[in-house]
Amino acid sequence: MKFFIDTANLQDIQEASDLGVLDGVTTNPSLMAKEGIFGHDNVMAHYKKICEIVDGDISAEVIATDFDEIVREGEALADLHPNIVVKVPMIREGIKAIRYFSDKGIKTNCTLVFSAGQALLAAKAGATYVSPFVGRLDDVSTNGLNLIEQIVQIYDNYGYQTEVLAASVRHVMHLVQCAEIGADVVTCPLSVITGLLKHPLTDSGLATFLADHAKGNK
Ligand code: E4P
Repeated sequence: MKFFIDTANLQDIQEASDLGVLDGVTTNPSLMAKEGIFGHDNVMAHYKKICEIVDGDISAEVIATDFDEIVREGEALADLHPNIVVKVPMIREGIKAIRYFSDKGIKTNCTLVFSAGQALLAAKAGATYVSPFVGRLDDVSTNGLNLIEQIVQIYDNYGYQTEVLAASVRHVMHLVQCAEIGADVVTCPLSVITGLLKHPLTDSGLATFLADHAKGNK
């Protein structure tokens, strides 16, 4: 399973990268705004900085919603670095653009996916990744993990190459359950990745080992 970090915060990206377990990064316009990154040139420069930190797929989202503009924006993003994946919303014009990018060998991440039908359409269009939002479905009292399970099953049925990128992953159990289901990738905040380290029995066990070792070295 690949681990992507879902942030535009360079420190968090660096910290996850330093752990040695990071495979890529996803961003979105809200995450860029949270870091105070506004304006075309600043946004492009920020993506370049992220690409310098992580040698893996970096999703950069288009803002446009009509085909010509999505293509124009997506091609400019893809020109920034070979690791850029053009993130395109699950809308009619987005699907047409994903087909276009796919035919040109440009990697895509179809975002804002909330149903199995949408995921099937993204795979048919040749998306590299499909991003179902687990946490946002949970927020509206719908089991987001069930959707991941459905999509994995459908893609397996037909051998689609599109990778299931579980997004809006909010806590460690989301991540572990995505792994059990067979999601190809999870994207989540740094706190979820570092949350995997934690177990109280590890902490108490280590404290005992160190204390016992110290006794013998007095
Ligand atoms: C996906 O790529 C999105 O950036 C992200 O996972 C959304 O997460 P949120 O629902 O926690 O905002």
